Amino acid sequence: MVLLLKGGREPIENWVAAFGKVLPDLEVRVWPDCGRREDVEFALVSNMPHGALATFPNLRFVASMSVGVEHLLEDPQLPDVPLVRSVNSQRSATMAQYVLLHVLRYLRRMPDYEAQQQAKVWQRLPYRDAKDMRVGIMGLGSLGLAAAQQLSQCGFNVAGWTRTPHSHDGIANFIGREGFFPFLARSDILVCQLPLTAETQDIIDARALAALPRGAYVINTGRGEHLVEEDLLAALDSGHIAGATLDVFREEPLPADHPFWIHPKVTVTPHNSCDGRAAHGAITIADNIRRAREGRPLVNLVNRAAGY
Ligand SMILES: NC(=O)c1ccc[n+]([C@@H]2O[C@H](COP(=O)([O-])OP(=O)(O)OC[C@H]3O[C@@H](n4cnc5c(N)ncnc54)[C@H](OP(=O)(O)O)[C@@H]3O)[C@@H](O)[C@H]2O)c1
Repeated sequence: MVLLLKGGREPIENWVAAFGKVLPDLEVRVWPDCGRREDVEFALVSNMPHGALATFPNLRFVASMSVGVEHLLEDPQLPDVPLVRSVNSQRSATMAQYVLLHVLRYLRRMPDYEAQQQAKVWQRLPYRDAKDMRVGIMGLGSLGLAAAQQLSQCGFNVAGWTRTPHSHDGIANFIGREGFFPFLARSDILVCQLPLTAETQDIIDARALAALPRGAYVINTGRGEHLVEEDLLAALDSGHIAGATLDVFREEPLPADHPFWIHPKVTVTPHNSCDGRAAHGAITIADNIRRAREGRPLVNLVNRAAGY
């Protein structure tokens, strides 16, 4: 039983060590030292060269190191085997923390207090109730739902926008294209937690931003390609959008001369909103390896037709 590993954000030795703990009888090979390709049954990869996975004839599943699977799906020779998503409770919990942190930061007007501190101004600003802050989460999947539920528990007025109908206590649901603009119109804080697909690329553009209430905030924890960056800059500069927290960008690392770095209304974080460490990730991939071995159904599968 052989697992092939490639890439990821953290050193590959951490993945090898993590699998050594959770599945000691698993043989782990690290790309490009694949050995006999016929032996490899499972692959956990990031940014694999196109066509490379097709050279392993006995793959039982391919898993993506990242939660998003757009890079896998771009491979025109991707083998016809199940695709597994690297979702886990640590990722969901840490993403929910990030979203809560930045929503609270806007509720409690921290950007204004930070500016006041720079100017040595001692002044209390008006309060706003969480229940009056309408947060709109684009995507209620493994990450968006955890964030939505956490915010709802903290008293925020939460809605989620999805492709198919959802029913979750305390979370209003807007669905598909026809629900999109009504959803935006009630979002004082818009959080993007979508996968990147043909339908969601460039979705936060000038039209979408204009549909948000004046003074709204934007938090992007999906992918850089969801946001039309120049449209956000224009909306910030016009005052229609009050602030943005961005964890993902069209080009990463964010180039040194990018206007987001120094924009007074923008908070930049280096694609760190959720914890993708191997120690947590290996547990859920190992679960699927056990399932494959025992002939049980796999979990957390990609819907290829939907693109996520
Ligand atoms: N910033 C980071 O560090 C970081 C880390 C991990 C992941 N991410 C990003 O977060 C994304 C989401 O992850 P996840 O695990 O929560 O995904 P997921 O479980 O697949 O959920 C995706 C959600 O988006 C909705 N959706 C997809 N296409 C849509 C469309 N065209 N219109 C409306 N709703 C749509 C889905 O609706 P249905 O429920 O109706 O299917 C679902 O609720 C990943 O794909 C990745 O791009 C970012």
